[in-house]
Amino acid sequence: MAEGYKMPEGFLWGGAVAAHQLEGGWQEGGKGVSIADIMTAGNKDTPRRVTDGVKDGEVYPNHWGIDFYHRYPEDIKLFAEMGFKCFRTSIAWTRIFPNGDEAEPNEEGLKFYDDMFDELLKNGVQPVITLSHFEMPYHLVKEYGGWTNRKLIDFFVHFAEVVFKRYKGKVKYWMTFNEINNQTTWDSPHHLLQDSAIKVDEGTEGMEQMMYQAAHNECVASAKVVQLGHKIDPDYQIGAMIAMCPIYPLTAKPEDIMMAERAMQTRYWFGDLQANGEYPAWLPKYLARNNMKIDMEPDDLETLKNGRVDYVGFSYYMSFTTKYTDDNADYVYTESKDLVSNPYVQKSDWGWQIDPVGLRYAMNWMTDRWHKPLFIVENGFGAYDKKEADGSVHDDYRVKYFHDHILEMEKAVALDGVDLIGYTPWGCIDLISASTGEMAKRYGFIYVDEDDEGNGSLERSKKDSFDWYKNVIASDGENL
Ligand code: BG6
Repeated sequence: MAEGYKMPEGFLWGGAVAAHQLEGGWQEGGKGVSIADIMTAGNKDTPRRVTDGVKDGEVYPNHWGIDFYHRYPEDIKLFAEMGFKCFRTSIAWTRIFPNGDEAEPNEEGLKFYDDMFDELLKNGVQPVITLSHFEMPYHLVKEYGGWTNRKLIDFFVHFAEVVFKRYKGKVKYWMTFNEINNQTTWDSPHHLLQDSAIKVDEGTEGMEQMMYQAAHNECVASAKVVQLGHKIDPDYQIGAMIAMCPIYPLTAKPEDIMMAERAMQTRYWFGDLQANGEYPAWLPKYLARNNMKIDMEPDDLETLKNGRVDYVGFSYYMSFTTKYTDDNADYVYTESKDLVSNPYVQKSDWGWQIDPVGLRYAMNWMTDRWHKPLFIVENGFGAYDKKEADGSVHDDYRVKYFHDHILEMEKAVALDGVDLIGYTPWGCIDLISASTGEMAKRYGFIYVDEDDEGNGSLERSKKDSFDWYKNVIASDGENL
């Protein structure tokens, strides 16, 4: 049905994935062990565990992914058939530098991405690349303590330099750190490891301080990489990547409003640093009040200022809601404790709140605050799919989710003037879930015959949403 809105010509319709969630081939081509390789399988009730290295008898779903490492030509054909203009994936750092701290890169790893990018370009699809997407070399965790250690800045800049030079002319859009702000949930060892390669047990003292230090170092690294990338190729567009879940106040009670404001500040200061190049006013005060501090080198603030990103990439799946409680006079936002259910929205089977209007709201909020073009690099609906005998999947629930979100995205552009580069729905082909390690939580337009234990034919088949999205792209978003 035509809703009256159309995205401008050149808009980057596509799909998104990350290396560790689909490639498999975890020991092929000289690849090293990444943090994703030591995360066990979980499900929505059982959290993934992190083991100290790869252990016999444990199940590690990222080891096999969906075997994209060998099957990418077939998958890319399907993306091209849908009309993708771009495909967002990441470069597994461990394929290029197996340990992360080597001087020389691994040629076999570089060649893999050369070939894959060529295959994309041959099919008229441009790669959009995240440098670090939850797949840091495990060696950097063990030897250096992850991003709390400033040495990682140099390792990351070196990695970026190698791939910026190698893929010049093949890649234009880059992002530095995927969902850098997930570590706002600093009391979750899972998020500290995924975002910052810090391995600690739950309840370890000083986790919040570690997060602020690691995040500062990452933002400095990101700013250096932005400057370096522009030197290597002035056409490079290098973005941040923020997990955007706008946080609403539960009621109009002034304390709830203040609590939601502080929650947004706490969750999104990463964007202030990467897009505006400066720390927000509330943050040094908060750190001082809570006996925390960030160690900085004298030129860090200048580096941050000069290394502002070209655009803000973001994921959007859901909104959050919070409320004030009487024992929290200082409005400290602790994400694991302070979220409440929103009575106005529905939830997915994994409890993720479904809120299309929140996408438009968030796009306006970011535009007002960061004054940068935006790029929706993840959005989607994780659901249990049922494959019929003929391979079809009737995923009308997914089509509805996308319909409602794309419509709000189009309003943000057409009615609110938001500058938007593109839209790449998450997990355009079914892959391993990052939070649970399941295959059962499926996002794709393309079904992959594989179960949570890695059994199955790995055959790809089209879901109903495949043709629907193809039509959306062909009409530049007019036929939803
Ligand atoms: C984002 C990540 O958090 O959301 C992806 O960037 C992830 O890596 C996606 O897969 C969906 O989350 P999940 O846990 O359902 O896979």
